[in-house]
Amino acid sequence: MEPGNAPLPQNVIPLFPRVTADDLNNVAERSARMLQRIRDSMLQPHPRKEPPVFPSNKVQALCGIDKTKMSNLLKAGKLPQGTQDGKGKMRRFTLAETIEWVAATLKPKKRAKGQKGKIITVGNFKGGVTKTTTGMNLAQGLALRRCRRVLLIDLDPQGSSTTLYGINPNAEVDHAQTVLPLIEGTEKDLRYAPMKTYWENLDLIPASADLFNAEFILPAQVHQGDVGFEFWQVLRKGIEPLLDEYDYIIIDTAPTLSYLTINALFAADSMIIPVVPDVLSYSSMVQFWSLFADLVNGMKRFRSKGPTKSFDSIEILISRMPNKQTAQVVRDWIRKTYGDYVCPVEIPETELARTSSTEFKTIYDMPNYDGAEAYRRIREPYDNLVDLVDDRTCRMWEHEEQQAVA
Ligand SMILES: Nc1ncnc2c1ncn2[C@@H]1O[C@H](COP(=O)(O)OP(=O)(O)OP(=O)(O)O)[C@@H](O)[C@H]1O
Ligand SMILES: [Mg+2]
Repeated sequence: MEPGNAPLPQNVIPLFPRVTADDLNNVAERSARMLQRIRDSMLQPHPRKEPPVFPSNKVQALCGIDKTKMSNLLKAGKLPQGTQDGKGKMRRFTLAETIEWVAATLKPKKRAKGQKGKIITVGNFKGGVTKTTTGMNLAQGLALRRCRRVLLIDLDPQGSSTTLYGINPNAEVDHAQTVLPLIEGTEKDLRYAPMKTYWENLDLIPASADLFNAEFILPAQVHQGDVGFEFWQVLRKGIEPLLDEYDYIIIDTAPTLSYLTINALFAADSMIIPVVPDVLSYSSMVQFWSLFADLVNGMKRFRSKGPTKSFDSIEILISRMPNKQTAQVVRDWIRKTYGDYVCPVEIPETELARTSSTEFKTIYDMPNYDGAEAYRRIREPYDNLVDLVDDRTCRMWEHEEQQAVA
């Protein structure tokens, strides 16, 4: 026996005092106070993540106007003037000002009064396939390029989306700020939860590890035998009152088939399923579809009334596409298998996309990145994705408008 592993003589083993319920309370209170202190110190200065500033050439590019058109519009005086360090120096615009320019020049189609926003769930049970990156870029892009009001719901207990907003899900998010009060039934809907973020027109319902509790709460409610309780509809019902306020509600999910993920799938008007073109991801996609189909069909049996679940659209997004022969082969399999469900936009694998996340940044956070070509390679596909999603939604809104008139 190793000397250090010799059993201690009985009389040397220390006897601890018994741990009582009061002791547990004391420790719980002490840790909550400690967490509060950590949170307070981390929140200084606030806000900790800043939106980018847009020089006038970037605003021109976003608005599709040239220098002359911009200076005419500036002279007209109706649009934000930005700031200028001196005469002849380039003007700089805040994100809010830039969005105002986009709204005035591109005039994105507005959602008609009474029409509802759209819920997009980003999901795949496979980990690391860029669900969070896709959801966050889409949310920022829709706010910037199409002047939409967007809410991102982080439904992943890992809180990766929350982290990208510069918020620490472990130290700074109280369970009352997450979707949990809705899940527990202490809140009727999610109106209590959206918080402003550093990004104009983009709100967040953050996540924390507490979200794991949903995996006990929801099945417990099922076992209590409430006849009308549909565990898979809790989130959709909670979101419903927010659909007047937001054009888009984007849900980031965990890489698991959990009760929360099921809720996100059933809440969705449309789905984006990012997939990385490697053999393992391809085979797990096959599993995903089989489970997804079973789930949607299986719920039919639970429902006594009402329509079965359907989606406006389902989009398989090939993402982190490397410039390699093997990836091209898998891409072909994906296209052959999923045909029209495959999104025409493809996101390449790039070093910039990989490293930006280590600084808690997304592509839309860094429009002034120095390497123009490296930036363009990854920014353009995201712009195309944003435009595709919004164009399709506009068509849906038009269609719904026509149906309402007919
Ligand atoms: N286009 C890209 N090129 C290279 N790396 C990328 C690209 N997009 C995202 N990544 C990196 O891939 C990793 C996984 O991305 P992300 O966290 O978005 O995946 P996820 O599906 O949300 O993961 P999880 O299943 O853990 O929630 C991150 O480190 C991210 O920086
Ligand atoms: Mg994620």
